Amino acid sequence: MENEKFGSKIGIIAATAGSAVGLGNLWGFSYKAGTNGGGFFVLIYLLFVVSLGVPLMLSEFMIGKNGKSDAITSFENLDKKGSFFTSAGFTGILASFLVLTFYGVLAGWSLIYFIEGITTGFSAYTSEASETIFNETIMSAKLTVTAQLGFMALVIGVLLGGVQSGIEKMSKILMPMLFVIIIGLALYGLTLPGSKDAYAFFFKPTFEGVEAGVFEIATAAMAQAFFSLSLGMAVIITYGSYVDSKLDIVSITKQVAVADTAVALLAGLAIFPIVFSAGIDPSGGPGLMFISLPIGFGSMAGGRFIGIVFFLLVVIAALTSAISLLENTVSLLKNRFGMDRVKATILSGVVASIIGLGANYTFGFGLPFLNWTGSTDFLDQLDLLTMNLLIPLSALLVTLFVGYRLKFEYILKEFGNNETNAKNFLTYVKVVMPILIGVVLLSSILSFF
Ligand code: TRP
Repeated sequence: MENEKFGSKIGIIAATAGSAVGLGNLWGFSYKAGTNGGGFFVLIYLLFVVSLGVPLMLSEFMIGKNGKSDAITSFENLDKKGSFFTSAGFTGILASFLVLTFYGVLAGWSLIYFIEGITTGFSAYTSEASETIFNETIMSAKLTVTAQLGFMALVIGVLLGGVQSGIEKMSKILMPMLFVIIIGLALYGLTLPGSKDAYAFFFKPTFEGVEAGVFEIATAAMAQAFFSLSLGMAVIITYGSYVDSKLDIVSITKQVAVADTAVALLAGLAIFPIVFSAGIDPSGGPGLMFISLPIGFGSMAGGRFIGIVFFLLVVIAALTSAISLLENTVSLLKNRFGMDRVKATILSGVVASIIGLGANYTFGFGLPFLNWTGSTDFLDQLDLLTMNLLIPLSALLVTLFVGYRLKFEYILKEFGNNETNAKNFLTYVKVVMPILIGVVLLSSILSFF
């Protein structure tokens, strides 16, 4: 079956940046920077984006673009049938499915907050009441299930349109919108009284009030960098298979990395001034976006409008990421099981929604056989399992594949036949990356015990 293709370079960049920019940038990055002391975490994060994220994204793109198939078959096309490295695709697809389940839950909550902003506003979210309201909201099955299924229906709807008229077209509309909103919110942050403290917290590397050790912060920063750039789940392999062989993936990779990092930083510039102006503790953890921020929206002049726009932004960002997560499976079902797009999308979308409902219903308590992850909460368990185990594992396998299995001619071609650059890249992928990723992976495996 002829593989579908993206229509243009700008379309690929929009779609890949759409995948990269998501809850990880808006929700994850800000709360993790908050709990890990701000500036120091941000600095390490940036180092990981450049030193590991960019070469890893390029590696995944190379596998997809030359393997020309789903995340598992691409490895076989480049190596041999039943290649050991198909396990990287398998791990990746499994992880993307798991992430999609909790993505749907969080996106659903954001949708609820967006609608609530429009219908009633945020004035009830005082510093005393915000947490209670949040807990009541997420315990309301009617609300959360409707929102989650509504969100998943959107995801399925976009994917039914296919690669060009679904994913690409949607991303080309939504991504510019997202940029305008986030820049507007960051500029608004500039006008707030707490902005100076916020910038100092976000950019000055200090350890004040940080409990985690340097190694723990580094592990968290690497996991966050991979997640944010959509790496380690074979999604970029799948998207790479839709890239025309004439296009330059080195420049596409750089542009996507810049866009994704810019949104993470802008999100910090939008969120922390509100947090500091409202006198909220920045190290509030995962509740930062749903509990702390609404307090700011409820108390500031114009806060209602800002809040509505903010949660709209979150839903848009989550949508373009969720479609990439599901497309991974759709592509697999199409290529390996000969299903047509409609069947593949509906089947995988419905199954993901059902598991997602499980994730939603088990919120607040976890599966006992996953307690070794260090958490007894199912959403947390999924998060830990994917971020700290499956993603780095798949990433390690990808670097080993490109370093030791991929034909050098493919690498050479991507570097415009510049032998020195291609060789430097290869050495880096062969030696430096496996060591760095391996060390972090090992340390997070050890932390499970
Ligand atoms: N990058 C997205 C975020 O930051 C999440 C995501 C979408 C993702 N697709 C992915 C993460 C593939 C890893 C792999 O929220």
